[in-house]
Amino acid sequence: MIIGIIGAMDEEVKILLSQLQLSRAQVKANMKFNFGQLYGAKVVIVKSGIGKVNSAICAQILIDDFNVDNIINVGVAGGTAEDIYPGDVVIANSLVQHDVDTSAFGDKVGQIPRMDTYDFKCDRNLVEKAQLACRKIGDIRSFTGRIVTGDQFICSTEKIKYLNSEFNALACEMEGGSIAQAAYLNNVPFVIIRSISDNANNGASMDYKKFAPIAIKNSTEILKNMIMNL
Ligand code: ADE
Repeated sequence: MIIGIIGAMDEEVKILLSQLQLSRAQVKANMKFNFGQLYGAKVVIVKSGIGKVNSAICAQILIDDFNVDNIINVGVAGGTAEDIYPGDVVIANSLVQHDVDTSAFGDKVGQIPRMDTYDFKCDRNLVEKAQLACRKIGDIRSFTGRIVTGDQFICSTEKIKYLNSEFNALACEMEGGSIAQAAYLNNVPFVIIRSISDNANNGASMDYKKFAPIAIKNSTEILKNMIMNL
């Protein structure tokens, strides 16, 4: 079994790469795919770059060229629910792309027109393994629910309220929904695990700078515990 691990930014893959027993690396679409053993599992770790297009291309390469059996995306996110704070972890069970809007044709916002699903559901087994990892670690607060994705850094109180009420979102980020769509189209199990770096409100960019390192540490720790049990 080979696990594809995607992080969008250097910071999100740095700890993982430092712990990878690297066997080889290959560059494709300007992304470096790093192969090796991580905590006893066979993995490919890659930095996709930020946003939906980069991350979808990355997921498709993992599937087509490197035959991964499942995909795990780790990184940071903005909190969009009450009671979710920097450092908390959100395990997605479902992803919606909040910036897709063909409501002019009567579609619900987020629905990709003419696709047979509104949301992209994460693999139940991977979700359970991530939840188990959180319980084992103990001192990280974790939530399971919907994460929404769009090509936007959210930094407005109004927008968070909208994301929460329209999509029932716990967190927002910029890659999970497109990784989910690529995995869904290829029938590959996936899960998105994000740790909160900010509350997606007016102070989001300041909070992000302050809390991203601790958030990344938490999502990495969960991944570590999780893949040791896969
Ligand atoms: N990733 C981390 N914080 C975010 C935010 N506020 N909006 C979008 N993506 C994020």
